[in-house]
Amino acid sequence: MGQSETKSGKRKLNTALNAVCPYFTMFPLEFPYRILQQYASRGEAVLDPFAGRGTTLYAARLNGLPAYGIDSNPVAVAISQAKLANTSSGRVIRACATILDEYRTPKRVPTGDFWKNAFHEDVLHMLCRLREGLLENCESDARKALRAILLGALHGPLNKCEPSYFSNQCPRTFAPKPAYAVTFWRKRRLLPPDVDIVSIVRRRAQRCFADEVTVASGVALQGDSQRASSFVLPKRVSWIVTSPPYYGMRTYIPDQWLRWWFLGGPDTVDYSNAHQLAHTSQTVFGDGLRQVWSNCASVAKPGCRLVVRFGAINDRKVDPAQLIKESLQDSAWRLLTLRNAGSASAGKRQADTFVSSSDPIEEYDVWATLAV
Ligand SMILES: C[S@@+](CC[C@H](N)C(=O)[O-])C[C@H]1O[C@@H](n2cnc3c(N)ncnc32)[C@H](O)[C@@H]1O
Repeated sequence: MGQSETKSGKRKLNTALNAVCPYFTMFPLEFPYRILQQYASRGEAVLDPFAGRGTTLYAARLNGLPAYGIDSNPVAVAISQAKLANTSSGRVIRACATILDEYRTPKRVPTGDFWKNAFHEDVLHMLCRLREGLLENCESDARKALRAILLGALHGPLNKCEPSYFSNQCPRTFAPKPAYAVTFWRKRRLLPPDVDIVSIVRRRAQRCFADEVTVASGVALQGDSQRASSFVLPKRVSWIVTSPPYYGMRTYIPDQWLRWWFLGGPDTVDYSNAHQLAHTSQTVFGDGLRQVWSNCASVAKPGCRLVVRFGAINDRKVDPAQLIKESLQDSAWRLLTLRNAGSASAGKRQADTFVSSSDPIEEYDVWATLAV
């Protein structure tokens, strides 16, 4: 039921599916899991309007609660949808085989220095076949799970023993910019590995779906949470556990450009940042957040709890606590507590292989309730 017993008799969370694909500034599963475990009642629905990789949705699933997620980044939505997939490793592996059987020649394979150095020719060819098959049809839970497994394995470090990733040396968490990556690989004479995609998928599917996970109910939707029209939920929610983009962190799409390409985006870095909260000034950002809280209120039950983990990144001089407090002022939400949650550890970013400029700093946890 999403947890297994250790030798000491302590309950251990099943985190394999949660780790299907890394994402920026994800919060630890324990954070939403413990809140929902301690305070939520049976049947209460949970919402995350900045779902990211779907940690809150997965925590709700482990607690047997219906979960809804919204995110404007298609990469986040694809990963979140896998957190709610009711499937098995066998079905995922079969979905992979079916696509490869049906799509034998890709219509389009990206060309150029980056692509030649990032992936072995045969690996890229097979990736394009899987990409086209999934773009054509990604309806079933098995295909949604497969898609997230492929996204998770798309880029990462070269392993000395069994390969786990499809790419040449890369960070796992974000995709390197092409010119930088090509220079990096050439300088070190790093060549893209000729990996067996199917066996990597098999191993990852068996890991993610090894334990029986509680049956999920809910949806992860792509949308701009600043718009009321994005909040079409089947049920009013009693819990909102979320973490908005940290102030100054606005590169979710360009940093995930390779995964976005796999989902149908361009084969070059996409800097458009469509439907992300604007970071042009604190006021503009705060107004965007206020709008999201107001939309949340419109789908919340009276007494609903809003729990927000929020921070800022190093190169922006703001007081995140003040910013989050202001975003809740004159809203339907009544602030209950605001606590310092400590500092985000660098390990969470896992961006060790290439340089990263935006390490998170102080984080705060805010609890508010919907005024009755
Ligand atoms: C801090 S991350 C959430 C991480 C999440 N808690 C997790 O554990 O994976 C913030 C998310 O907000 C999303 N986002 C930013 N602006 C948005 C908007 N206007 N509407 C919906 N999602 C948005 C980003 O794409 C990003 O995935």
